Amino acid sequence: MRSLLFVPGDSSRKMEKAAGSGADALILDLEDSVSLSRKAEARELVADFVANAGRAFPAPRLIVRVNALDTGLTDDDLAAVIRARPDAILLPKAGSGADIQDLGARIAVEEAEAGLDEGAVLIHALMTESAGGLLQAGSFAGKSKRLTALAWGAEDLAADIGATSNKDEAGLYTDVFTMARSLTLLAAAQSGVEAVDTVFTDFRDMVSLKKECLAAVRDGFSGKMAIHPDQVPVINAAFTPAQEDVERAIKILALFAAAGPEAGVLSLDGRMLDRPHLRQAERIARRAGLDPAALPARDDADRD
Ligand code: COA
Ligand code: MG
Repeated sequence: MRSLLFVPGDSSRKMEKAAGSGADALILDLEDSVSLSRKAEARELVADFVANAGRAFPAPRLIVRVNALDTGLTDDDLAAVIRARPDAILLPKAGSGADIQDLGARIAVEEAEAGLDEGAVLIHALMTESAGGLLQAGSFAGKSKRLTALAWGAEDLAADIGATSNKDEAGLYTDVFTMARSLTLLAAAQSGVEAVDTVFTDFRDMVSLKKECLAAVRDGFSGKMAIHPDQVPVINAAFTPAQEDVERAIKILALFAAAGPEAGVLSLDGRMLDRPHLRQAERIARRAGLDPAALPARDDADRD
């Protein structure tokens, strides 16, 4: 998923608008963008939206951000929305892998009540919103098959550690926040899940957004969260691999497939290819929406 657009869950108008934004996913928010007095109403609006969302093409994935596990609100959030069958639940302020297991167990109860298959609803987690979550970055791997994406956020972490800003005078993230970003990449790679870059809050500044997107692509993120529909096309463009890169990746995958599972090193256009190139090619193919395992094997790819 390239773009994941946050939408306040108490705004039907914004949810409708977001549906046509071109985002790969919508994050329907029950947490920070909804005041306590509007939580109940937002749960109903989000559940209705998810249940009735037209599956028009291209339909965005629907992710619901619930309230954090220590708020006492999470169970009511899940009870309202799981039966509508969102694609995933986004857990804010995830403190460790144990929180993912905890959430998974709670989702399983609601899935059973709603007659859904166990595991139907996936989990995404914001893992850098507290000092504890950052320090437990290595604990997220292997805890739940539901976990498919790890994302980072800078606003709540600033509040947790007492930082008055997360950026310096030049507008660059300060040390702790770049560490949070890096740990998210590492934890996602360790877990074999997607790494999702944080929001860019200055939603009129498309030049800086594009720069941040290109840095995120370079460093290994597979997508970025957005707060405004205007950010979506910029994010989609940056995270869509170039046609020539996709074509090269397809050639590399074809060569390795033809060479069989024992293949170590191969060559293409006079350059050496080994396993890291294969993994890189798989990544690009997936970003282009292709299933690397389903591509045909060819042993003549270097003679094109
Ligand atoms: N999803 C869907 N529609 C959105 C949207 C969003 N995230 N952000 C803005 N829009 C809509 C507005 O409703 C408006 O529609 P309208 O013309 O039909 O009224 C249009 O896009 C233009 O919006 P604009 O005037 O440029 O911005 P705004 O001042 O109305 O909204 C924010 C600014 C920041 C309040 C808004 O972008 C927002 O709610 N973002 C999401 C916040 C959030 O979920 N935060 C939690 C995670 S960090
Ligand atoms: Mg927050």
